Amino acid sequence: MNLTFDHPSLKGSIQVPGDKSISHRSIMFGAIASGTTTVEGFLLGEDCLSTIDCFRNLGVEIRLDHEKVTITSKGIAHWKEPSRVLDTGNSGTTTRLMLGLLAGTNFHSVMAGDDSIAKRPMKRIVEPLRRMGADIRGREDGRFTPLAINGTQLKAINYSLPVASAQVKSAILLAALQATGTTAIEEPVATRDHTEIMLRQFGAEINRNGSTIEIAGGQELAARHVKVPGDISSAAFMIGAALVTRGSEITLENVGINPTRTGILDVISEMGADFEILETETEGERVADLVIRSSELTGIEIGGELIPRLIDEIPVIALIATQCQGTTVIKDAEELRVKETDRITAVVDELTKMGADIRATEDGMVIKGPTQLNGAAMTTYGDHRLGMMAAVASLAAEGPVTIDEPDCIAVSYPGFMDHLNSLVR
Ligand code: S3P
Repeated sequence: MNLTFDHPSLKGSIQVPGDKSISHRSIMFGAIASGTTTVEGFLLGEDCLSTIDCFRNLGVEIRLDHEKVTITSKGIAHWKEPSRVLDTGNSGTTTRLMLGLLAGTNFHSVMAGDDSIAKRPMKRIVEPLRRMGADIRGREDGRFTPLAINGTQLKAINYSLPVASAQVKSAILLAALQATGTTAIEEPVATRDHTEIMLRQFGAEINRNGSTIEIAGGQELAARHVKVPGDISSAAFMIGAALVTRGSEITLENVGINPTRTGILDVISEMGADFEILETETEGERVADLVIRSSELTGIEIGGELIPRLIDEIPVIALIATQCQGTTVIKDAEELRVKETDRITAVVDELTKMGADIRATEDGMVIKGPTQLNGAAMTTYGDHRLGMMAAVASLAAEGPVTIDEPDCIAVSYPGFMDHLNSLVR
């Protein structure tokens, strides 16, 4: 892909695609519940299509009509043993949450994904599930996919999460639904709570006491309608686009602003960005229209409890930081090393190619700005968020930018380039 922009401004309005985390969960919950679940605003990204494919292979009936999905299930007890390997593609959420679900079934299943999934740590899920009685085998004793699961009766555990991970928390919560007894999960740092919200929406009882979440096993879920808001992690790239260009003002409609996901808004606010949050939905998953204007920005320090609230936005935050006055320090973000790619190394290498003043640290990066970015030959490493970072960076670059393997962007944001081009003036 070749991109050449001549000092563009961005104007207009778009609706970013549905939230990836919530879309995955809508399929999973629809498959667990008995009855017909309908979903609107579903993300037709490749990751979520992998989730649909896996559940179809478990005998769940799923119909797709553009962004509307209908899931008809007789409940988790009626899933059937899959006759082939469940292919989770590039999706960590599919792989990890499904592990929690498959562990408590009464059949055998095998899961594997692409080359990136094969490198991602699975022991963080396998270990607590084994404590619940799960029978899971895998490469290097379950550290990596492929994973083979012999479904069995699970029992409740008390577990303190060693990593701040919503995927680990969610896998345990989903396993706990099928376990005997009440499971308690202690979460030292808050992570996205879409699973907890959806459990309540589907009629389950789940309690939070401080940093501990409790859920009793054996609860049945009732099918329902799910409205998926726009993904703030996708909106983040458009926010970045408006902030690294001059004279821009854009509106991003219907964006999910669940407080466990809005770290990016806290960051741009502290950097001095001019933006508005016009809230439209305050129950369950909160939703807003976001208005973002070009702004003079200042570098800041980002770390601690903020990190899980913006972990997927760090590539675009690093790019924004190249245009901030002063130094931005990102720390406590070592989890970036085990995402779709090592996002510390990849972000630093790619922005360096464009002339940014950025260096990697063990658990983050240090960026000095503002710097004029130059055209360069950019690599995505097959990572959707690296692809979008490069495309947004090209708006601020002097000279042509090329991006290899840009197709990976469709993992979370199909139509991304069309949306970006529609805003460019
Ligand atoms: C996700 C949780 C996060 C996030 C990922 C989606 C989820 O991962 O990075 O894109 O849907 O629960 P971790 O749980 O590994 O932090």
